Amino acid sequence: MPKVRVGVMFGGRSGEHEVSLMSAASILSRLDRGKYDIVEIGITHQGQWIVGEGVLAALKQRASGVRRALLFPEPGSRGLWGYEAAGDPKDIVLHLADRIDILFPILHGTFGEDGTLQGLLELAEMPYVGAGVLASSVGMDKGLFKDLMRAYSIPVPEYALVLRRDIERDMQGVVRKAEAVAPYPLFTKPANLGSSVGVSRCANRSDLSEGLLDAARYDRRVLIERGINAREIEVSVLGNDDPRASLPGEVIPSREFYSYESKYIDDSSRLIIPAPLTPEKTREAQDLAVRVCKAIDCAGMARVDFLLDRDSQALWVNEANTLPGFTQISMYPKLWEATGIPYPQLLDKLIELGFQRHAENVRNERSYESASSAAKH
Ligand SMILES: Nc1ncnc2c1ncn2[C@@H]1O[C@H](COP(=O)(O)OP(=O)(O)O)[C@@H](O)[C@H]1O
Ligand SMILES: [Mg+2]
Repeated sequence: MPKVRVGVMFGGRSGEHEVSLMSAASILSRLDRGKYDIVEIGITHQGQWIVGEGVLAALKQRASGVRRALLFPEPGSRGLWGYEAAGDPKDIVLHLADRIDILFPILHGTFGEDGTLQGLLELAEMPYVGAGVLASSVGMDKGLFKDLMRAYSIPVPEYALVLRRDIERDMQGVVRKAEAVAPYPLFTKPANLGSSVGVSRCANRSDLSEGLLDAARYDRRVLIERGINAREIEVSVLGNDDPRASLPGEVIPSREFYSYESKYIDDSSRLIIPAPLTPEKTREAQDLAVRVCKAIDCAGMARVDFLLDRDSQALWVNEANTLPGFTQISMYPKLWEATGIPYPQLLDKLIELGFQRHAENVRNERSYESASSAAKH
């Protein structure tokens, strides 16, 4: 059997570039080389695609010696194109650089987890690992995500969505709207971002206006939410049409909430696996995680994050991450390990699910011929 050629893509233009490199290093070291030939594809901070030996190292050290590469949106080429752009731009020479059977994007956040890359891969008819365009973008947009959860009667903390324009022009009106959501503390966050960037806990009105202005630096739309006195519970989900949920895990943030500093700087937030929960709460979290994934029509994987109210014991869905952190010590693979799927087998399963989803997509007929016009032929 010929080996499957897997393009592992990492880096990217988001603030989570460095996290992506860490996730990719783990994946590259654990993909079974007996089954797969690996093509490393790096994306620089500026958005250039590069291939060649040691791309990961090159991205970290900003070294040269790697080749630029392109993916065409035209279907069927199943590969990356290399090009030489020396001299006159009219004289660019293209050549097929690397054939790829399936792409494994391990890009977190903007332009990787939000459906934009997935759109390009759909156009190119390239099989890929993980969620499609819609689930990726809904998973990324905290506003639409919460609207959808409400439509499915999946519990989310009360929230309101406001525009940057309103924050700039009518702060008083926005504050009034925010204070109608719930009593303080409130959380403010940009609708489309991750890693807790721009997320604030607001204990009073002056925190609130600061939080709103800060979140508005990162996005046109800002979410205001009831602040929950919460334990943070996470569940990994795996599968396409019949997703399975892992055991839940718990994050113990090193600060007041799971902020950027707490995630990446302090290095002292702890994960407890499995989360110490009653069997009933465990099942509730698992059922909700699966319902969330079905609601957004997810595929492959997602990590669904919850806020477990310490006061009422209510379980609220916070968000779904369609490309969760993937280092050996990240919650997503750790939870599967605890549930009985070791890391290398998890990667096999994700690749298999990517091919299955692609096979399902190509079954769709792309043109329509009505019975009457077919009869004329
Ligand atoms: N409504 C809320 N109540 C309590 N804590 C929250 C709330 N929303 C967010 N947080 C805290 O902020 C962190 C980051 O917010 P989150 O919505 O998960 O954004 P990100 O996508 O950046 O991870 C959460 O892990 C949690 O610690
Ligand atoms: Mg989060």
